[in-house]
Amino acid sequence: MKKNHSELTIFYETAHAELASALEMLAACKGTDTPKQAFGYFMHAKDEYNHAKSFFKMLSKRGKKASIKKARDFRFIPLSLIKKGYISPKGFLIETMKLKDFIAFVYTNELLAKSSFKKILNLVGFDTKEGKRISSIMKDELRHHGMAKKFFLNQYPELQPWQLRIYRTREIIHNKGRKLYDANLKFLDTFLTPLYRVMSYFAGTIARKLNLNGYKRKDKNLMNISPNSIL
Ligand SMILES: [Fe+2]
Ligand SMILES: [Fe+2]
Repeated sequence: MKKNHSELTIFYETAHAELASALEMLAACKGTDTPKQAFGYFMHAKDEYNHAKSFFKMLSKRGKKASIKKARDFRFIPLSLIKKGYISPKGFLIETMKLKDFIAFVYTNELLAKSSFKKILNLVGFDTKEGKRISSIMKDELRHHGMAKKFFLNQYPELQPWQLRIYRTREIIHNKGRKLYDANLKFLDTFLTPLYRVMSYFAGTIARKLNLNGYKRKDKNLMNISPNSIL
């Protein structure tokens, strides 16, 4: 049961990350004036959508085995892409970053994605149908990484490999920060939900005990009611 829960979390988070990548690529596609770049971004977005679809399928397979209560926690809500930090509330990366940083971001993240899929591959097994799909997703990510690298080195040949390593370290830190933020949100949710429930229980009890007969307005001329009345 515990294993299923952790698998649900892994597929849920990965599907979010893939869908966020698809949206980022689509935003980049819309934002560029170069047809060749637009085509590249569009094809990349298409791959990411397909990756997200596959991970949602793997999630749903596991969700069916979980209790309804548990499965409900893993329903997809578009807003959670922002709440979980996969998409910034400030806008898409292409809108908030310099092109150079954006390409470096894609370059490093594709490689990071590939290594995190390796762990999922171990989880589902290499020879399974899911394993084969994940292997093909990993090949896509490596292709995306290669494309970004080519573009990056073409545009900015003066950049040294160590500078790219800095970009990579920054992304690893950012990803860790996002996970921590998400964990904090979950902690606050478990802590605050019972508190809200207790507060609403007391508010309900007090409201039930109040005698509101004196405030009945049925069949009364509302113009005769004191302007100070709150009802
Ligand atoms: Fe992907
Ligand atoms: Fe990718």
